[in-house]
Amino acid sequence: MHTILSKKILTERTWHMRVAAPLVARKCCAGQFIMLRIHESGERIPLTIADWDRAAGFIDIYFQEIGATTELLATLEPGDTILDVVGPLGNPSHVEKIDGTFVMVGGGFGIAAGYPVARAFKEAGNRVVAVLGAKTRKLLICEEMLKSVCDEVYVATNDGSYGTQGLVSDVLQGLLDEGEDIRLVYPVGPPIMMKIISQMTLPHKIKTIVSLNSIMVDGTGMCGSCRVTVAGKTRFVCSEGIDFDGHEVNWDEMMSRQKMYGRQEAVALSHHHEHGACWGGAR
Ligand SMILES: Cc1cc2nc3c(=O)[nH]c(=O)nc-3n(C[C@H](O)[C@H](O)[C@H](O)COP(=O)(O)OP(=O)(O)OC[C@H]3O[C@@H](n4cnc5c(N)ncnc54)[C@H](O)[C@@H]3O)c2cc1C
Ligand code: FES
Repeated sequence: MHTILSKKILTERTWHMRVAAPLVARKCCAGQFIMLRIHESGERIPLTIADWDRAAGFIDIYFQEIGATTELLATLEPGDTILDVVGPLGNPSHVEKIDGTFVMVGGGFGIAAGYPVARAFKEAGNRVVAVLGAKTRKLLICEEMLKSVCDEVYVATNDGSYGTQGLVSDVLQGLLDEGEDIRLVYPVGPPIMMKIISQMTLPHKIKTIVSLNSIMVDGTGMCGSCRVTVAGKTRFVCSEGIDFDGHEVNWDEMMSRQKMYGRQEAVALSHHHEHGACWGGAR
């Protein structure tokens, strides 16, 4: 059992939760995730470990309410418990001193997921730039957190309500045009954004490491549901990633596999709305 220590709403459907998980906090590193199951009949969902305190024994998660399990999670309050928090899972991001600028490009929950990696690259002595994207200013999360670990933080909003009007790719293009010496780009967020950024950096021969969020069931390499094709080979995101070379990912396959449980997800959500917490998910 893992106690929720605090909970804060950041945007209409995005939450920050602090959860007691001393064993996870003791070992986790940037780029790793947990599999969380709220109750006995609930489904397991992967969430990135955005921050942690080893001494105090807690981890921070940021999640968007987009379906049955995340909606249920959002109804829990400080003092409530989560049945399982398994982790840290996945391989830590490879962090090193690079000869040039590290750029983290974050969209949606990916901004929080990219935070510990940006911090780790800063701690390794690099110049770190973050490019954050949101549809509108009200949906932007974690800007101050990123500012605390980055040399520069740029924001793009689709409607121009804050920062540059446009997409994160427009900001990245601007940095390239200005001659920023970018050596490593780390996009994390919606797959379509990671695909576009990877396509942009390819002609510039800029190393691009993406943090893949394919569908996971066990998170430990046993079920195969998270499989993706990278450089023509089948890879399991949970046990071999979650970071991969963005220039080698078969994006169309990855994105089509993300929709493979669409029918079951819709059923789970409608059952959740009808029956609330007693519904455990459709998978
Ligand atoms: C390694 C990893 C880290 C992640 N980190 C975060 C995070 O920090 N914050 C956050 O908000 N989200 C994160 N996600 C996505 C998150 O797991 C899904 O949003 C969540 O599982 C949705 O569950 P649901 O029942 O609420 O919605 P559902 O209705 O079940 O699903 C909605 C959509 O979410 C995706 N999804 C659903 N189930 C899974 C699953 N088991 N694994 C992966 N994707 C799924 C699919 O694209 C699906 O169409 C991460 C995913 C992965 C693989
Ligand atoms: S989630 Fe089952 S093999 Fe990766």
